[in-house]
Amino acid sequence: MNGLVNRHILLGVTGGIAAYKAAELVRLLRRAGAEVRVVMTRGATEFVTPLTFQALSGHAVRSELFDAVAEAGMDHIELARWAELVLVAPASADFLARLAVGRADDLLATLCLASAAPIALAPAMNQQMWQAPATQENVRRLTARGIRLFGPGCGEQACGEVGPGRMLEPAELARLAGELFASGPLSGVRALVTAGPTREAIDPVRFIGNRSSGKMGFAVAAALAAAGAEVVLVAGPVALPTPPGVRRVDVESAAEMLAAVEQEQFELLVAAAAVADYRPATAEHAKIKKERAAIALELTRNPDILATISAARPAVFTVGFAAETDELERYARGKLAQKGLDMIAANWVGAGRGFEAESNALQVFWADGGTSLDEAPKSDLARQLVALVAGRYAASGKKSKG
Ligand code: CTP
Repeated sequence: MNGLVNRHILLGVTGGIAAYKAAELVRLLRRAGAEVRVVMTRGATEFVTPLTFQALSGHAVRSELFDAVAEAGMDHIELARWAELVLVAPASADFLARLAVGRADDLLATLCLASAAPIALAPAMNQQMWQAPATQENVRRLTARGIRLFGPGCGEQACGEVGPGRMLEPAELARLAGELFASGPLSGVRALVTAGPTREAIDPVRFIGNRSSGKMGFAVAAALAAAGAEVVLVAGPVALPTPPGVRRVDVESAAEMLAAVEQEQFELLVAAAAVADYRPATAEHAKIKKERAAIALELTRNPDILATISAARPAVFTVGFAAETDELERYARGKLAQKGLDMIAANWVGAGRGFEAESNALQVFWADGGTSLDEAPKSDLARQLVALVAGRYAASGKKSKG
């Protein structure tokens, strides 16, 4: 449902018992990255309090058209323009009737008239009311105007009857809303991004780590989601917020990172994590005491996550990163070949460059070509990289196999 990232959804809630399910819908839409503003009809407020939707949406809820205070903020015309989708869930029989005749007798009906955005309705009512000729006539008029109907479903109703008229489940409504926007170059593609450092335990309080901030990987995850991909972000310990619309799995060590990656299904892998190449051969169970003048730490090789996946799942389109202090192209192309990658993005590290910096530059290589992305903030660079990845992925034979 990742067409929803940064989308503006005006959720209309009308009076019906299914109004309580709209609360879960707000949560799901926001988790998918959408910004949600809720407008309730007076009837809806009889079922659920505006405070519930205010807390879940993060914005004040409106229900009155003639509300001087609210109109002084974002007035109803601005709100209508702000919306990229007007989704009414639940949509009562009365609301369908009012919309069908073009009434503007409350805020929600007025917004539906005043907005140029697509309108989708999720009807919810007693099966007899849904099947009533008047309702069916209204539905025909509405759909003839291009208004979309999400449902209703069939099944047991709150009134005890069985039949058509149940509101679709919130997850299904969120998925349908996402489909309306799904037009990015990577829509429908499942992508996994590794990001951040790993920590390899020496004892319960100490670890071997590195200076990776995770910024580049997080920016790539955000850019992939904005391009329509369904993104899982497997992150080592970093202090960064999860990008909108991205599912995040937190891990510590390289072994945990590999295990987390192996659990997921995806067509595209971008390995931006700075995985520790070695870990202490034995992690002590108790804290090491300062008893000896010197101690030696024996290290063993960690699995290479990128190379493991590239070998085990040849249909996955793989993109690696290479952080180098010298001979950038030679080392990067070496990794491209050794790890069997489709692309590699290389950057210089050391002395103020790379890991902790806000901006970066990349040289991207693939088997028969390459290009440079000039120094730019990591979020811009990530967008450019994702555009390149999307282009090469589409052209690769891997696209259909995924
Ligand atoms: N990588 C990985 N698992 C590892 C090590 C690296 O998935 N255990 C991935 C990184 O996420 C990156 C790429 O492999 O996409 C290259 O990582 P880098 O550390 O630059 O290269 P290494 O293969 O570790 O080689 P070296 O340290 O010798 O430069």
